[in-house]
Amino acid sequence: MTGTPGAASPWVRICEAGAHVGSVVEVRGWLDKHRSSGKVQFLVLRDGSGLMQCVAARSDLPAEQWDALGALTQESALIVRGSLRGDARAPGGVEMGLQSVSVVSVAEAYPITPKEHGTDFLMDHRHLWLRSSRQYAILKIRAELISALRDFMDGEGFLLVDSPIFTPNACEGTSTLFETEYFDEKAYLSQSGQLYQEAAALAFGRTYCFGPTFRAEKSKHRRHLAEFWMMEPEWAFVTLEDVIALEERLLVSVVGRILDRRAEELKILERDTPALERVQAPFARMHYSEAVERLHAAGNAFEWGGDFGAPDETVLSKQFATPLFVTNYPAAVKAFYMEPDPADARLSLSCDCLAPEGYGEIIGGGQRMASLELLTRRIEEQGLPQEAFEWYKDLRRYGSVPHAGFGIGVERTLAWIAGLDHVRETIPFPRMLNRLKP
Ligand code: 4AD
Ligand code: MG
Repeated sequence: MTGTPGAASPWVRICEAGAHVGSVVEVRGWLDKHRSSGKVQFLVLRDGSGLMQCVAARSDLPAEQWDALGALTQESALIVRGSLRGDARAPGGVEMGLQSVSVVSVAEAYPITPKEHGTDFLMDHRHLWLRSSRQYAILKIRAELISALRDFMDGEGFLLVDSPIFTPNACEGTSTLFETEYFDEKAYLSQSGQLYQEAAALAFGRTYCFGPTFRAEKSKHRRHLAEFWMMEPEWAFVTLEDVIALEERLLVSVVGRILDRRAEELKILERDTPALERVQAPFARMHYSEAVERLHAAGNAFEWGGDFGAPDETVLSKQFATPLFVTNYPAAVKAFYMEPDPADARLSLSCDCLAPEGYGEIIGGGQRMASLELLTRRIEEQGLPQEAFEWYKDLRRYGSVPHAGFGIGVERTLAWIAGLDHVRETIPFPRMLNRLKP
């Protein structure tokens, strides 16, 4: 292979081609499209950073390369060399005049063709589907979102402290635990890193974890994954109000950054960006009881005391242009660790953030229970083993302080920001009920 960086015709990535107009460079990629007029051949090459059109007249190439080009199949791998010129009509604004083509491998008949394919077919071919420009755009936004979340937390002085994935106990209710063998014991895949973040926050003040989490409910809902990624900040010496304000700053920051840095990808997805531009503080906010009243007003026979289902959240979150905070959920619909609401013992100091445009919950959080005695009782009531939570109860025995935190799900947040109607495209290899492959 020729064309190492710095050589006479350097290997450039397509996203950087604009800086090399007028020079001869090498590009390494896969054939996306090919057409020929007999006298001129046009190739569109994909290299993972963009698409570039390459053009060759018969006289530009040695005869055997010209013939080889004519026989190339979609997804064949190529190294091309040629001169770059600006061309407003070409994808990316730069076109290559081909001078040589070297074929790295010729692809077999590619299963994903420009015709429409069903979702199951595409999901079965997820390992190939990732190459499409739509998936490229989604995953570029995902990477930006993850960097933006972490940069924001780092900027707020929170320390990244990883929570474990094998855990000895439940965090979010026993009915949604994936059980696994752990040597001679049983272990569970983590549903949330929260309890460990509480330990970390009492050690370091402000912490967060970022990692995969697992939920075993047999749900086929468009917002449900069996494996999803969550960022979970935890903050010592603060209350629910402080974390709500933090969530608001976080969402304004990450949405602004994606609008700023991923405009091209949002355009590929045809996202309504003015809707994202309206994500500005202050966000809408209401008490659980008001949310119930609003559901009633919308003709929904919701019963006070229950948890909102996805359709209820859709109704509520369509009513506002900003994300919506719903606070003070009934303790009975939340996990055991929620601090009771001093104004009404039936309620908890909890808050969910619902994304607008009907997307629903993307963040769940709240203030953590302070009382060792009440915590012990709640663990008992939920049928959880006290012994597995002794370490957690130590956090109330040694230097207990008010503390609060939340978890933001990457995939649901991305589905909203990218304007997708299902979470299956928000993660490279989704794990869902009936889907463990590829
Ligand atoms: O509301 P959840 O269950 O909250 C917790 O796990 C808390 N322990 C977090 C904390 O306070 N540290 O989950 C938080 C978020 C949800 O708002 C949602 O975005 C996402 O995680 N999430 C899921 N995303 C995809 N598929 C699933 N099955 C999800 N379950 C939760
Ligand atoms: Mg929740």
